[in-house]
Amino acid sequence: MIEPTIKLSDEQVASYHREGYLAIEAITTHDEVARLREIYDRLFAQRVGREEGNQFDLAGADDEDAEASLPQILSPVKYAPELANTLCRANALAIAKQLLGPEAEYHGEHAILKPAFHGAETPWHQDEAYWDSALEYNELSVWIPLQEANLENGCMHFIPRSHQLEVMPHHSINHDPRIHGLEIDKIDAAPAVACPLPPGGATFHGPRTLHYTPPNRSAISRRAYILGFGTPAKKRATPRDFYWNQMKKTAREERVQQMQKKS
Ligand code: NI
Repeated sequence: MIEPTIKLSDEQVASYHREGYLAIEAITTHDEVARLREIYDRLFAQRVGREEGNQFDLAGADDEDAEASLPQILSPVKYAPELANTLCRANALAIAKQLLGPEAEYHGEHAILKPAFHGAETPWHQDEAYWDSALEYNELSVWIPLQEANLENGCMHFIPRSHQLEVMPHHSINHDPRIHGLEIDKIDAAPAVACPLPPGGATFHGPRTLHYTPPNRSAISRRAYILGFGTPAKKRATPRDFYWNQMKKTAREERVQQMQKKS
């Protein structure tokens, strides 16, 4: 296994817990970023996982013949096993243990591509709004751009200290239940902070930290590779109603059901 090469300072750890997010300039080497970018582009070009519902349009209705505006792959490591043994993963896990406790472990990964010129925005949301409303989470996401990420191509934006909020009401993007992506009903984005990063930098955020990425207006595709870590989720004492997830009817879910019928 690859050994981690990064340790956060006490100041960085305190800043993460105070603000609900943290940005660092490098989580891996330039060589590894170049390798990851090749794998990444191949997986999207081959549309891996499409049939089993692991590749779909996060921001559109996901019609078979239309170009996706925000294509996403769930668990790219299933299609490129070499992703299991990377320096960025080793460093991300080491940092997750610093931020969440020594029991923190890898929970999953996905890839979100914003195609050049037309990649859609990812509206303001809290990640926990997608998850099981019956569980209590101690999680974080590590967002790694595989090229520079800036205001023009869709870098990460956060609302400082929003990690202390409850999960706010969400709805499917454009109120279209065919769309997988969620957006928050009402938001005051004035306090938002943009986090431009060099290739192979990283941001960390919690499950309730409000975040957003703008559309890609640049000539280069914006590739983000996202790793999730956490301690085992616990059952909540008080139930919540994430009704927005019950209202969804996406093409991706239909493909998952088709696959289950076949097997
Ligand atoms: Ni998110």
